[in-house]
Amino acid sequence: MTRKGFLTFPAGFIWGTATAAYQIEGAWDKDGRGMSIWDTFTRQPGRIQDGSNGDVACDHYHRWPADLDLMAELGLKAYRFSIAWPRILPEGTGKVNQAGLDFYSRLVDGLLERGIQPYVTLYHWDLPQALQDQGGWPQRTTAESFGEYSRVVGRRLGDRVQHWITHNEPMVMAYLGHLLGQHAPGVQDLMAALATAGNLLVSHGLAVQALRSVCPANAQVGITLNLSPVHPASETDLDRQAALRHDLATNRLFLDPVLKGSLPDELAELLGPLLPQLSPADLKVISEPIDFLGINYYSRTVVRHAPDSPLHQVAQVQPSGSEYSQMWEIYPDGIRELLTRVWKDYGATYSRGLRLLVTENGICVPDGVDYDGRVRDYRRIRYLRDHLGALWQAMQEGVPLDGYFVWSFPDNFEWAFGYTLRFGLVYVDYATQQRIVKDSGHWYAKVIRDNGLDTRPGGAFLPL
Ligand code: FCB
Repeated sequence: MTRKGFLTFPAGFIWGTATAAYQIEGAWDKDGRGMSIWDTFTRQPGRIQDGSNGDVACDHYHRWPADLDLMAELGLKAYRFSIAWPRILPEGTGKVNQAGLDFYSRLVDGLLERGIQPYVTLYHWDLPQALQDQGGWPQRTTAESFGEYSRVVGRRLGDRVQHWITHNEPMVMAYLGHLLGQHAPGVQDLMAALATAGNLLVSHGLAVQALRSVCPANAQVGITLNLSPVHPASETDLDRQAALRHDLATNRLFLDPVLKGSLPDELAELLGPLLPQLSPADLKVISEPIDFLGINYYSRTVVRHAPDSPLHQVAQVQPSGSEYSQMWEIYPDGIRELLTRVWKDYGATYSRGLRLLVTENGICVPDGVDYDGRVRDYRRIRYLRDHLGALWQAMQEGVPLDGYFVWSFPDNFEWAFGYTLRFGLVYVDYATQQRIVKDSGHWYAKVIRDNGLDTRPGGAFLPL
């Protein structure tokens, strides 16, 4: 039902926010936590823009009760967070650190007490350093260790956590971590990047199996992929083919194995000997049936043919005339295009019936605290409003979308950018750890209360 200018969402729509362990927790050496590849990486000079690290971050490890109170005040229905593998298994495998499990167990209880559903991500990039020392993701043994870790967590939290996400954005781990070296572990090696992609996929399947074996039958298990519609920079054949290649190497490399149990033939042609070595048995594990697909959407990708570029001869282009955030082009219709495409190409034909979730969407803009203590982040409100509008449109076009998670709840450690970029609905003063709900946070609370979106001019700009 639609009042003029007001978009209503289905009853029970899941309104949430998302974070990741290394970006918010801090307490890097507390209660038996082992080292992760991000602890190592951030200590290498020149890796992080402001020379910072996640040692303290938002100190969420200690401040979680107050953070959860704030989430409850805003009326959030769900909270997506990740578990730090090195808190659970400091050496990556073997001895379980009960104190680590206890922390997440308290967090889950705290959420449920406040009526907020936990959505748990098992891996958001913080591999135990001990496993990196044995070769890391390019080694198949790391995938097996991930299965073991998933079982340990599922066994402890499965009685209360219903929604599980195995991996966050395996593409970023593969390419930014192992090809471009911009993320931990900082490797620059084409073979390693594609071996990583293959092993992450296998580890996803092993984690699905592990969770199904230890969690109650109603557990909902999925994976989160960062997907982006790929557009050619021009209508020339060369650019159009470049766009198809980029779609294969970034989107379809993950979508097809997980949801169809195969690697696209065109990808095999494109990558030749670099193609991840996946046997039929591996593909069966990778395509273990899931309940939902999580999609992270921030922007579209525009590319041109670039014969000298490694991997697939493609270069990214920043179209002129567009609006940009500090990081990406702002392109709201991309979320509609992406959701309808994923649904048509993968969801509608998925035998078991697939649900979709937007597990991240958000923007970094230079926020500041005004004289009266408010953070008037109107550009964030506009970004979220326009993306929610496009997403609503996708739902009208038949996409079964269950929920939407804003990245992020508090400002936090933005990987290679350190603390220079702010994505939160909640402003964090890192010197004092004070939290201030930004205007976008108040606005989002109203969207949740209304279960809908006021798109009238001015409507979205009256949050209080
Ligand atoms: C995504 C990551 C998340 C955050 C946002 C801005 O790629 O999953 O941790 O860094 O981008």
